Amino acid sequence: MYFRMEAKTMRRAILVSLVLAMGVCVVGCKKKEEPSGMRPEAKEKGKMGSIAKQSFGQTQDGMEVEMYTLTNANGIRAKISTYGGTLVSLELPDRDGNMSDVALGFDTFDGYLTSHPYFGVTVGRYANRIGGAKFTLEGKEYKLAANDGANHLHGGVRGLDKVLWNTSEVEAENGVGLRLAYISMAGEENYPGTLACIVTYTLTNNDELRIDYEAVTDKATVVNLTNHTYWNLAGQGNGDILSHELMIDADRYTPVDEGLIPTGEIRSVKGPMDFTKPMAIGSRIDQVPGGYDHNYVLNSGGGELALCAKVYEPSSGRVMEILTTEPGVQLYSGNFLDGSITGKGGKVYEKHYGFCLETQHFPDSPNKPEFPSVVLRPGEEYSTTTVHKFYTK
Ligand code: GLA
Repeated sequence: MYFRMEAKTMRRAILVSLVLAMGVCVVGCKKKEEPSGMRPEAKEKGKMGSIAKQSFGQTQDGMEVEMYTLTNANGIRAKISTYGGTLVSLELPDRDGNMSDVALGFDTFDGYLTSHPYFGVTVGRYANRIGGAKFTLEGKEYKLAANDGANHLHGGVRGLDKVLWNTSEVEAENGVGLRLAYISMAGEENYPGTLACIVTYTLTNNDELRIDYEAVTDKATVVNLTNHTYWNLAGQGNGDILSHELMIDADRYTPVDEGLIPTGEIRSVKGPMDFTKPMAIGSRIDQVPGGYDHNYVLNSGGGELALCAKVYEPSSGRVMEILTTEPGVQLYSGNFLDGSITGKGGKVYEKHYGFCLETQHFPDSPNKPEFPSVVLRPGEEYSTTTVHKFYTK
């Protein structure tokens, strides 16, 4: 067990009651009776920054979707939508203080209703792939949606990226925070057990975006939660990410078959997979068929918050460090972007216009007993943290 402690009953009870107290919709959220205005209700937090809420739109069945804007004391701004717990934008200064939005996505909610490739969303119940779209747990086979060829990807047809999350603002010591909660009912997307999930975004005054994931279940199940932001530290839509310099603290990775399912082998990164020393993402991408879409086995082993990756974009000077408690990270170099999506500010997202570093447990772990366990049982607490730290040089 890498990230789960035997939870004290008290801690678990608090998590469940917190989710319930937030009025999480078990059978669907209330429809808003009156159209809501666009005027943000901003709450100043003094030196601690501010948090504002505004309407972002409505789902096809008339549910109100909200957008929260978190601003820290240094003017860094993150926008988070209640639909999919999505990071819609993150505005950061470059080395001259000019702000740019470094996350791909859409200006309006309509974009998020299209079948986009998971821009900024919270992914679950099982992020990444499960081979053959099935797994066996405690002697019972569970068949999942085969939504990526024969395999299951990112929680299925209506994963956590396509549900409405309930929110509450969090008093953070050194910044502003937003807590999102969702109860995934037993059998949702065919996963066993009712899963109560809390995802907390905190934007600190040290210019960190911290994401904490917590979950409890009433029946043994599998869980792997992550965030799927496509980053471009030169500013979203401003060219490809091939000249970003990347370091991943991993000596090994999990090779995959043609369906991108790990073969089970844990192999040295030696060659074009090696990012142990900073290298431009594009420097050897031609030697990797299809581009990077691989899980790295972090040297930290997971469990404690440790450095996972560091990315530097030379033209803007922006740097992003990622720390995580997870044992793995998926490097995805935006290989399937092909110019067919127009995103924020009318920018067309061509191949490699964004990269993802999805902190996670390894793909297909439910079928690979040799990988760190992703099983969550009643009485245990799933608890992982990923921190994105930003600065310029
Ligand atoms: C993940 C996968 C990629 C791709 C994207 C979404 O990162 O690993 O293969 O499916 O999501 O397009």
